[in-house]
Amino acid sequence: MPLVIAMDGPSGSGKSSASKGVARALGLRYLDTGAMYRAVTWWMLREGVPVRDAAAVAARAGEPVIESGTDPGAPSIAVDGTDVSGPIRTREVTNAVSAVSSVPEVRARLVALQREIIGTGGIVVEGRDIGTVVVPDAPVKVYLTASEEVRAQRRARDLATDPAASVTLTQAEQARRDRLDSTRTTSPLTRADGAHEIDSTEMGLGEVIEAVVRLAKETQT
Ligand code: DC
Repeated sequence: MPLVIAMDGPSGSGKSSASKGVARALGLRYLDTGAMYRAVTWWMLREGVPVRDAAAVAARAGEPVIESGTDPGAPSIAVDGTDVSGPIRTREVTNAVSAVSSVPEVRARLVALQREIIGTGGIVVEGRDIGTVVVPDAPVKVYLTASEEVRAQRRARDLATDPAASVTLTQAEQARRDRLDSTRTTSPLTRADGAHEIDSTEMGLGEVIEAVVRLAKETQT
């Protein structure tokens, strides 16, 4: 059976870098489902939809056409044919994405699209509900964590070009987003049954990639 590796965990746990690294090491495709929720959020903001009004978001959830590239060396995301890889990383989108992604109509649409892209497998998929909802029978499930401080430092480094992104502020915004993502009614972030927990607080990226590659090889023997 082609391999599906589900990588879930909170923001700043190192999921993206690790997922891309694992996909490259094993010659698999890569899907960033967070980018899909960000793309829908970007579209809602651009359309002037009040993102904290769940009914307003639900009413428009079927409209944006999302296209995700799956090359781990050059991941891409487009909405209605426009590349939004840059704009989806702004603080405005980051601070609105939890509200939009908690709307069941948004999730239903994106989960269907994710399953279509995953197809028969051969892919590393990162997100919050991959092992619990999107592909609960994935042969390899990982729950990647790190201490709150280390996660905020990593995020602030990612956002180094944004002068407002101090570690303290990033930590506060991140804690808020994690709380929303973990306590929402539909598909909250939680460790899936059978998921291997990897705490990356004291680990380098290479070590995390190695640990996941080892898990993948174990399941295939
Ligand atoms: O991984 P990220 O920070 O780019 O994800 C952005 C947001 O999208 C995150 O705050 C929660 C949401 N998300 C989700 O609800 N389910 C997923 N599978 C992936 C992301």
